[in-house]
Amino acid sequence: MFIEKFKVDSPNVKYTDSHIESSYQYETTELVHATRDGASEWVVRPKTVQYNFKTDVRVPKLGVMLVGWGGNNGSTLTAGVIANRESTQINFIDFFFIRGISWATKDKVQQANYFGSLTQASTVRVGSYNGEEIYAPFKSLLPMVNPDDIVFGGWDISNMNLADSMARAKVLDIDLQKQLRPYMESMVPLPGIYDQDFIAANQSTRANNVIKGNKKEQVQQVIKDIREFKEKNKVDKIVVLWTANTERYSNVVVGLNDTSENLLSAVDRNEAEISPSTLFALACVLEGVPFINGSPQNTFVPGLIDLAINRNSLIGGDDFKSGQTKIKSVLVDFLVGAGIKPTSIVSYNHLGNNDGMNLSAPQTFRSKEISKSNVVDDMVSSNAILYEPGEHPDHVIVIKYVPYVGDSKRAMDEYTAEIFMGGKQTFVLHNTCEDSLLAAPIILDLVLLAELSSRIELKSEGEDKFHSFHPVATILSYLTKAPLVPPGTPVVNALAKQRAMLENILRACIGLAPENNMLMEYK
Ligand code: NAI
Repeated sequence: MFIEKFKVDSPNVKYTDSHIESSYQYETTELVHATRDGASEWVVRPKTVQYNFKTDVRVPKLGVMLVGWGGNNGSTLTAGVIANRESTQINFIDFFFIRGISWATKDKVQQANYFGSLTQASTVRVGSYNGEEIYAPFKSLLPMVNPDDIVFGGWDISNMNLADSMARAKVLDIDLQKQLRPYMESMVPLPGIYDQDFIAANQSTRANNVIKGNKKEQVQQVIKDIREFKEKNKVDKIVVLWTANTERYSNVVVGLNDTSENLLSAVDRNEAEISPSTLFALACVLEGVPFINGSPQNTFVPGLIDLAINRNSLIGGDDFKSGQTKIKSVLVDFLVGAGIKPTSIVSYNHLGNNDGMNLSAPQTFRSKEISKSNVVDDMVSSNAILYEPGEHPDHVIVIKYVPYVGDSKRAMDEYTAEIFMGGKQTFVLHNTCEDSLLAAPIILDLVLLAELSSRIELKSEGEDKFHSFHPVATILSYLTKAPLVPPGTPVVNALAKQRAMLENILRACIGLAPENNMLMEYK
């Protein structure tokens, strides 16, 4: 059964006009290594830590500024949100407003939806009632921004308006595009920071809309853009997200970008090795605006992470976890969790969109290869019965540019695993779908969850003051291929664990226990 919303009734939870406060017992374990009678043994002690959470329920008017707004992802997301808006169309027969746009395809009349969005289209189990499981929308856990109310803007090195960008992307059905065009024609990206050293040379023909000046001036311009956007659109908060082209990795050099001071003075000196994405991120951190990186490159050089931590400004990334990697982080988790040993993982992709063209250059491909390669590490290292120390499955990534297939990316994966008594098991997967239709709902989730997490404060026992989450937003890991974590924090790639982490933290904010699937009521 499905319920739209619910309220928690508990002495540990208090609802006020401005906040939801919860007092929460975090059940965890503590490991001790002891020596007894000359033999070493591990002792595990259950541990309970008291936490208090305080969530501001006053949902702001949100501005979302995308870097690479006119790209396939940026235009598809903007179009998708407009198409889903309430009151976009008036039904003249019944004279009332209906939700969102519908359009004719060769199969049926299709209605706009948010399929693929964790916040808008997934549910959470809230309990059972008369022996029936009760589910509620994920977004009902805590007050979140309604996508209808987001104001979109952003930058692109191409000056094409969003209606033409949508046509260039060739992602959405033509009947839908025709209906959306009037809403999108007047949307024109601000000039972006173009540095041909960081993206493929084949992108140069697109770059007709660029911020002039040295790196310091470019950062100042981005800050000015953010302030003007906020003022003009009367939004309370801004989130910036990089969905521009994949850049090559920046070299991390002592004295250049290894500390916040060195990064800032390197920008002052106009050092060549500071990438456009790092400059955008820097502008956001200086302005205290959350910045999320949806591409694989190392935008967050150590100096940038250092600065974000010092200024407590949210950063999150890297690289949207949309298709192939999402399945990989489910399949390998299942295999290793079942005691089966994946020994070879080979992933081929071909795609024909501008992202594919940009990735056809070796340096940008290398960024993607790195981000796609590390996604099974935590699962492999979780099972020393299967793998010797340091042992790893062969893992190969191939990406080819095939213009004809456009945004409809093909991903072909072969997994070989060792099973009982020396047997081998091979799985082959073939996935075809529009890449941007997978990425757009993920971008929406990233900005909504980043905004929400900035309204949550917590304190654990012994702390006298509430504080925000760590500025490196691990809470967004479910949505990223190579989750950025603070130094010394475990990286979790397994998809189910990432979802459980996010859901259980939001549950804790309303005083609900983690979903443990024990169903003791029925045992
Ligand atoms: P796209 O090439 O269609 O769009 C990128 C846009 O960024 C272009 O319009 C380009 O003009 C603009 N751009 C490039 N450099 C810029 C800069 N310095 N400042 C401002 N604008 C700039 O690519 P698409 O398909 O939208 O993908 C965007 C990014 O998302 C790529 O890096 C891709 O690897 C990443 N990504 C996409 C996934 C997907 O499923 N679509 C999954 C994971 C990551």
